[in-house]
Amino acid sequence: MTSDIAYFNGKFLPLDEIRISPLDRGFIFGDGIYEVVPVYNGVPLHGREHFDRLQRSCDEILMKNPHTTDEWMAITMDLLKHHPGNQSVYIHVTRGVQSKRDHVIPKGLPNTVMMFCYPLASPSKESVENGVACVTAEDFRWKKNHVKSISLLGNVLARQVSVDAGAVETIMFRDGFMTEASASNAFVVKGGTVLAAPQDNLILLGITYQLLEKLAKDGTLKLEVRPISRAEVLAADEVWLSSSTKEVLAVTTLDGKPVGNGQPGPMFRKMHALYQDYKSRLGRKDAVAA
Ligand SMILES: Cc1ncc(COP(=O)(O)O)c(C=O)c1O
Repeated sequence: MTSDIAYFNGKFLPLDEIRISPLDRGFIFGDGIYEVVPVYNGVPLHGREHFDRLQRSCDEILMKNPHTTDEWMAITMDLLKHHPGNQSVYIHVTRGVQSKRDHVIPKGLPNTVMMFCYPLASPSKESVENGVACVTAEDFRWKKNHVKSISLLGNVLARQVSVDAGAVETIMFRDGFMTEASASNAFVVKGGTVLAAPQDNLILLGITYQLLEKLAKDGTLKLEVRPISRAEVLAADEVWLSSSTKEVLAVTTLDGKPVGNGQPGPMFRKMHALYQDYKSRLGRKDAVAA
């Protein structure tokens, strides 16, 4: 028998033994935040940055963070003892269980904390070599997308637009400018410059987005952070997606039309190589990532 050990409010126990109250504010209101940390061979990639972002999410929703980054890292490493290899660690924190349903934020309620792991599969060779299809949609979500909120209905509906079109992601636009995709950040390449959307409340600032910024700098790729219009996206030489699980992927068709020449471009290949090299150094002496 394999036991899928998870973490729940201070205890390690099988995932299917966790019981959550129907009055948990996470269940009732989607009142909580989450994180997903990628782990390669037992080593979290930018674990601290993920927990720093978790702190920012807590601050934005006026919720006390139940743990310090050091404590979160320690719990993560204990959980990983049960899950060797490449994993995604899912961390879910809600405002806790209230005695009655009430919108008003209660004071002093203990958080509900749940963490579990699932195997992390890197993108397939095929998707790296051929790129992926995406579609576009209006960004109909709320205006606090910088919060990694467990209320993901907007993202779920956005993702479904691509599912229905047989594509892997939906790239969204608000007032004519690109924001992000349903579960990834999006980048554009034009004339040898990588363009990234502003780091504001309209997107979740990905840990991978920030890594690509750093890799671009170190690898001397020109990267500009600025508003990107729909016209620029449609006329791009290259479009990329980034996330902890997608790493960096080339978008080769958008709404059924080829992006550039319809193949992953040279800038993507360079960034992908930089990313793989960075990942391969994880856990080694010269690594800076854990
Ligand atoms: C809406 C959204 N934007 C961006 C990202 C990328 O974030 P990260 O690179 O930290 O995985 C995600 C990841 O889940 C996401 O859900």
